[in-house]
Amino acid sequence: MEIQPTGGALGAYVTGVDLETPQSNEITRAIRDAWLEHLVLVFPNQPVSEAAFLAFATTLGQPARYPFVTGLNEYPEIIEVKKLAHEKNNFGGIWHSDTVYLDEPPMASMLVARDLPPAGGDTEFANMYRAWDELPADLQTVIEPLTAINRSDLADVSKTRSDRLADADQPKREAFRSEHPAVRTHPETGRKALYVNVAHTSHFVGMSEADSRPILEAIFAHQVRPDFVWRLQWTAGMLALWDNRCLLHNPINDYDGHRRVMHRITLAGDRPL
Ligand code: OGA
Ligand code: MN
Repeated sequence: MEIQPTGGALGAYVTGVDLETPQSNEITRAIRDAWLEHLVLVFPNQPVSEAAFLAFATTLGQPARYPFVTGLNEYPEIIEVKKLAHEKNNFGGIWHSDTVYLDEPPMASMLVARDLPPAGGDTEFANMYRAWDELPADLQTVIEPLTAINRSDLADVSKTRSDRLADADQPKREAFRSEHPAVRTHPETGRKALYVNVAHTSHFVGMSEADSRPILEAIFAHQVRPDFVWRLQWTAGMLALWDNRCLLHNPINDYDGHRRVMHRITLAGDRPL
């Protein structure tokens, strides 16, 4: 197995493994270590079966259910992330970390590219360790003690799900809301990471939305500074694994008229501290 860092703000490519087959404990350990170091691992050309995708996920963690979209019939832990040719909204098309409105958000998400547009449909990732480390000291002092309130139903993120929720077989759910530290300590690396995002964070505990807004706007602008961001260009059958505890991601909606289908598994996480 070879691990080739992207050279950018985060990410590494992993080659020399076949994810259709089980990995040894040693390789699984090496994958986890590389993932913790690089935040995103990209495995080119791994058009795994659903069973192998789920098996690989299970070696890394516990597959979790996503509240808003029903999974595949035979593999309920796998959801389709898709935009059809006639649709305008892309699922999750805003900077976010996955389902932070839950009390225990998933530690990881995994996508396999099943059907890609001829061009476009990249995904950006931003490194929240770096965003924290380089936050101006006065802002660090302001936000470190704060608890963020995260909601599933803010207007911009709700719009990104609208085409999928319109599908007839999707459950209707009420909104979710969580309270998490604005700056969390990663349970495995011990590093601090910014843990607010424009998709879900509405305000801070003990502060009004109006008083929270200028602080949040400053963080939202800072946390996706170009030098914290790396952009993944998908190729057919590519599999990516990312760490929701220390990054944000943003799928780019630049392929209207074309279909894009990914399969996703999220891995359960613990309560952010
Ligand atoms: C997700 C998501 C990214 C993409 O599945 O959580 O944000 O590139 N998708 O589709
Ligand atoms: Mn997402």
